[in-house]
Amino acid sequence: MTERLGPADLPRAAALLRAGELVAFPTETVYGLGADATNGQAVAAVFAAKGRPSFNPLICHYPDAEAAWRDVAPDARAERLAARFWPGPLSLVLPRRPGCGVDLLAGAGLETLAVRVPAHPLALGLLRAVGRPVAAPSANRSGQVSPTTAEHVLEGLSGRIAAVLDGGACPVGVESTVLDLSGREARILRPGGVTAEAIAAEIGPLGRAPDPAAGPAHLRSPGMLQSHYAPELPLRLGAREAGPEEALLAFGPEAPAAPLAWNLSERGDLAEAASRLFSGLRWLDAEGRARGLRRIAAMPVPERGLGVAINDRLRRAAAPRG
Ligand code: TXA
Ligand code: MG
Repeated sequence: MTERLGPADLPRAAALLRAGELVAFPTETVYGLGADATNGQAVAAVFAAKGRPSFNPLICHYPDAEAAWRDVAPDARAERLAARFWPGPLSLVLPRRPGCGVDLLAGAGLETLAVRVPAHPLALGLLRAVGRPVAAPSANRSGQVSPTTAEHVLEGLSGRIAAVLDGGACPVGVESTVLDLSGREARILRPGGVTAEAIAAEIGPLGRAPDPAAGPAHLRSPGMLQSHYAPELPLRLGAREAGPEEALLAFGPEAPAAPLAWNLSERGDLAEAASRLFSGLRWLDAEGRARGLRRIAAMPVPERGLGVAINDRLRRAAAPRG
């Protein structure tokens, strides 16, 4: 059963989030499906609840810029935009700091992280009470439109999440603008509540947004305009065992022995596997290269539930590089 909470239940909503449960909450744009961003299993549960067939990077929400800057490194542009538009419907993609506590799955394994401070009193109260970054995509099932009321959230996610915090209708109704500041040129990855003109008035001309029609097919769907994590070592899929020059990305209780191995989940649990995917790939890549290995061999993961998203990411990571 999904609990329906009101403003007076804010401490309850915060406690559920801190315990690793999923709680939908209102922002000024749309309702977010929140999870403790530092808890890999909670983040994995977000993808499972949404039924997303792939791991998109999620936006992390903070009560103020100071808290956000503990996880990402702002430059002068970011500080200016935050001072002008936060709290508000602008998400900034910035490099993760080395000590960033946000789980790698929340950022889909990327070196960057999208952060924002939402302009909604309930969202800010919740974020302050949680005291941790909250990863939150829009609180709809994959393929459905973003919800702007608690009823909409329940229509899609009732029974799949612990609670929804009802704050009435969202005033903005469209998602936040996603602005990539990780490169020299600032680029809008997703248009939203803050316009390109308003951003340019603060930091000068923007770079050209990536043209969705020009990219490969898998980049054309909405929200997929970012690059994907891939290890430096090539990846071999469907492996039953690791060769002498291979590190093993294992899954399940019957993994073969290998000199260098990372088991996504010894008990064969897909949520655990999702939460350990990017950290495992990174570790095998770094450790494997340090030991002179040539490849990562990945065992098959069942194509169901979160396994669909895991396999999607593994296939992308294994695809030939341009
Ligand atoms: O208004 C909003 O932004 C809402 C509320 C809940 O805050 N959230 C939302 O999240 O719309 P979601 O997950 O539905 O959309 C996140 C967008 C996606 O287009 C994703 O690709 C992009 O942000 N994104 C997140 N992190 C990124 C990163 N590190 N690099 C590039 N794009 C990123
Ligand atoms: Mg969405």
